[in-house]
This record gives sequence, structure tokens and C-alpha cells, in this order.
Amino acid sequence: MKIIRSIDNLKKIIKSFRDSNYVISLVPTMGNIHDGHLALVKKAKLMNTICIVSIFINPTQFDQSYDFNNYPRSIKLDCKKLMLCNVDILFIPSISTMYPNGINNYTCMYVPYLSKILEGRKRLNHYKGVTTIISKLFNLIQPNLAFFGEKDFQQLIIIKRMVHDMYYNIKIISVPIIREINGLAYSSRNALLSKDEYKIAHKFYLTLKSMADKLKNNTYHVINLIKTTTYQLEKIGFIVDSLYILDSKYLTYINNNSTNIVILSTVWLGKIRLIDNIRIKITK
Ligand code: PAF
Repeated sequence: MKIIRSIDNLKKIIKSFRDSNYVISLVPTMGNIHDGHLALVKKAKLMNTICIVSIFINPTQFDQSYDFNNYPRSIKLDCKKLMLCNVDILFIPSISTMYPNGINNYTCMYVPYLSKILEGRKRLNHYKGVTTIISKLFNLIQPNLAFFGEKDFQQLIIIKRMVHDMYYNIKIISVPIIREINGLAYSSRNALLSKDEYKIAHKFYLTLKSMADKLKNNTYHVINLIKTTTYQLEKIGFIVDSLYILDSKYLTYINNNSTNIVILSTVWLGKIRLIDNIRIKITK
């Protein structure tokens, strides 16, 4: 695995792979690599591609500097894990490499509407930061394929919209959420949970799962289901930030004809924000 920090070196090595007609795939990450990231890498390798992983904790997608400063960093361990998965190139740029004019008044990529709803209502600059950094990486690397996890479902939909609207010739491949045995979705932020918080964190998924079962069996009215599930989550110790039942294609409200549904939720557990979703196919 080659570790690359500069744009010049990145471009040189990519050119050599492209000249030899390799298919190039990109797995963008913010590091603290876990099984969820490795599932993306494994899929890229299974598809016989040159796999480039980027690790960049992108300052413009954090609304609070506290959150940015406390984001878990574990670069040595990350390198080991990625090497074991046969990653070809690890790109670790600095902030000044990715934002040569600084992070105030930076030139941005913005997907309207989708970036302002749901998670975007409270985290005003979050998705603008995400689409900006992803578009920079796409422009630099020009991968044939790019891999994203389904855990941040709204992020995935926004990136697909950006690729469509900006005519990027890149295929977005999404990979289902990877969970620990108890059901907790892998996330870099799990490392910040205290022992006691970790013990109950998986109940977030279990509660959403039972909500999904009720929705599938059509045994509850949607509004009542959201109210009861919020109550159950808060009784366990979570503070519910958002809980939605939406159409999974357009993130719009569902109606009687909806068949592809997603439950999207974010909760606070102490100071840690957990995010999860469950997709449901309703057969009519
Ligand atoms: O999902 C993430 O880890 C980040 O939002 C991403 C896509 C790497 C952009 O910084």
C-alpha cells in the first residue's frame, strides 16, 4: 500500500494505473477505520479494482469546532487495517492541500433542498462540506467507482444527486450497514462512547427494528408509531433528535401507495450523536 499526501504524487500514480487500463475505485473516509469501512474496501477489491482510500477529517462538514477537535483519530491503526485488506493507495491530504485558500469562504459544491432537510435542518453547513470535499476528491482522482455506506442514508442520496446533476462519470456503489453482533451500526464515533453508554447503544437499533416490524405488519398508524418509538427510546436513555418514516427514493413523506420506505433516526447518547436507518419494502 502506497501512502500519498500530495496532489502531484497522487496524480502521477493514478496516471500510471489508468495508462495500464485499471478500473479505479475510491473509498472516501474520515479515518478511525472500522468494519463498515472495510466492507466498502472489500467490495472494491472483489470487483478487481485499484482501491484508493482517502482519510481526511473534513473541517467544513463540522458545525462545531468541538466536534471536529474530538473526532477520533487513529492513523497508525488505520494504516495497518487497510494494508491487511490490500488497499493499493492511501491518500492522506492535509487541510491546506484540500483547502488551499483556507476553510472560510471556500469554493463549494452544494446540492439544494436535500442538504437543508432532515439532518441538514440543524447542521446547516454539514452536507455542503460533504459534497464539496467529495467533489474535490472526485475531480482529483476521477475514479470509475466510488463506495459509500448506507448508514448516512441522506448523505448517500445527496451524493447520488450531485453525481447525476454535475455529470460526473462515476458509478456510486452503496454498501448496506455493517452491524456489531448486538445490532449497533459500526461508526467511528462509537469509540467516543463510555462503557455504560456502549452497553445500551445497541438498543437504538433494536427499538427501530421493532418499529420497522410494526410498520411492515401495518399494525400502527405512522404518527402513533413515531410517538411510541420516541417514548421508548427516551425511556432507555436516548434523546431523540429526529425520527422519520419516509419514501426511500426521494426522502419525501409516505402515502398509502408507498412501497419503499426508510426509517431514519438520530439520537443523542450523552454527548454522542448516533445515526441509523432501516429500509423496508412493503408488499401491497
Ligand atoms: O461519511 C463520511 O465518513 C464523510 O462524510 C465523507 C463521505 C468521507 C466525507 O468527508
